[in-house]
Amino acid sequence: MSVNANDIEAIVRQVLSTMDGKGTASPAPYVSGGNGGGYDIPKTAHCAFLTDLKHFEIKEFPMPEVGDDDILVKVEGTGICGTDAAEYKFDPFKYIPINLGHEGTGTVVKVGKNVSRDSAGKPLGLGDKVVTCMIFKDDPSITMFDLNKQNVGEADVYGLIPDDERHLTGWFSDYILIRGGSTVFNVSDMDLDSRILIEPSAVLIHAVERAKSTGILRFNSKVVVQGCGPIGLICVAVLRTMGITNIVTVDGNDQRLEFSHEMGATGHVNFMNHKGIEALTEAVKKEFGGDLADFAFQCTGSPAGHSNIYKFIRNGGGLCELGFFINGGDATINPHFDICSKEITTVGSWVYTLRDYATTFEFLKAAKRDGIPMSKLITHRFDLKDINEAFETNIAQKGLKIAVMSGR
Ligand SMILES: NC(=O)c1ccc[n+]([C@@H]2O[C@H](COP(=O)([O-])OP(=O)(O)OC[C@H]3O[C@@H](n4cnc5c(N)ncnc54)[C@H](O)[C@@H]3O)[C@@H](O)[C@H]2O)c1
Ligand SMILES: [Zn+2]
Repeated sequence: MSVNANDIEAIVRQVLSTMDGKGTASPAPYVSGGNGGGYDIPKTAHCAFLTDLKHFEIKEFPMPEVGDDDILVKVEGTGICGTDAAEYKFDPFKYIPINLGHEGTGTVVKVGKNVSRDSAGKPLGLGDKVVTCMIFKDDPSITMFDLNKQNVGEADVYGLIPDDERHLTGWFSDYILIRGGSTVFNVSDMDLDSRILIEPSAVLIHAVERAKSTGILRFNSKVVVQGCGPIGLICVAVLRTMGITNIVTVDGNDQRLEFSHEMGATGHVNFMNHKGIEALTEAVKKEFGGDLADFAFQCTGSPAGHSNIYKFIRNGGGLCELGFFINGGDATINPHFDICSKEITTVGSWVYTLRDYATTFEFLKAAKRDGIPMSKLITHRFDLKDINEAFETNIAQKGLKIAVMSGR
């Protein structure tokens, strides 16, 4: 008799479940014999729905049919993004009611018969760890190999799409149904924390690609990163892994500024300690040994932050503005002093492309290899049932990246 790996996993799970002192398996009801293709799949799934402002409800749905092109994933963990927090507070995108969560990862527990490879052509099957990127249901011909320009802004993303009759559309759930036509990546070679950080990291891979397109960002560049939330901190880590060693961070929070050094910053300035833009600019220059920055990344949603950053950049330098995913209002600049006479090259950066996603996997592996403690960015982990508390912690600006864990 031959026993395959899935049978072995099922046997091990069975044995372990009788070792918990109670002699029982998990309390969830199971679909009978073998329907899960090696995994025990409960009859129902639980999805966190934002049903009102500042209110999630956990809804229970029958486990959906897995079509020939679909993948059922048991969710492990999902990060809370600024977009999720904005939805929770204001519903600016008018999504309510919605099953949120787009920074998620989990284990493939059932696959349709047509599924054998991920969007990069890597084999994909039961037990693999995956993340999703965009859903090109209107144009399935788009692949990561011909997609350098189109970014996710044009496509759907799980966790930001309307509910449908099969449900399980967001990663703040214990199971998610990846429909055929979605992009999915096998990231089994990455640890859970790295996988949770893939989506926000892709934002910075894209921003650095945009910055590189100016031709100004180089190995020996002096770089300012303004804003030390998760986005700015990951920006520092990306720059460091690509060999940039002169990075000054600017923020108003000492703890975050200190932490930026663990990500790779070599100097920092707390703007609260300097009155007026001249004094602040002098402080930045001092951190660079008397020079202005060659390049700057603007990673705050603050109009004042946008106005300030031009002053930190040398003549002929470059700027990547990526901090305004949400409209934070107008900012004042002086076109003569800030752009025209300085000949500053500016680029905007908006989310990422599929290709950036694949680059992100390599960045996270490089960060690990280089000893950058990316895991420390995840400061809080809440169970799915405590998702309201997780969001309250997020909007109270406690910690950095808050994760919702589904599998514990
Ligand atoms: N371009 C994109 O695709 C994309 C994707 C995700 C997020 N974002 C944007 O990136 C920004 C940062 O995201 P985050 O999750 O790190 O947010 P965050 O709120 O955690 O961090 C922002 C940081 O900026 C600091 N700050 C505020 N005003 C400042 C100022 N004037 N000078 C210096 N520092 C200042 C704050 O103290 C804070 O630490 C957000 O505004 C978000 O909209 C953009
Ligand atoms: Zn996000």
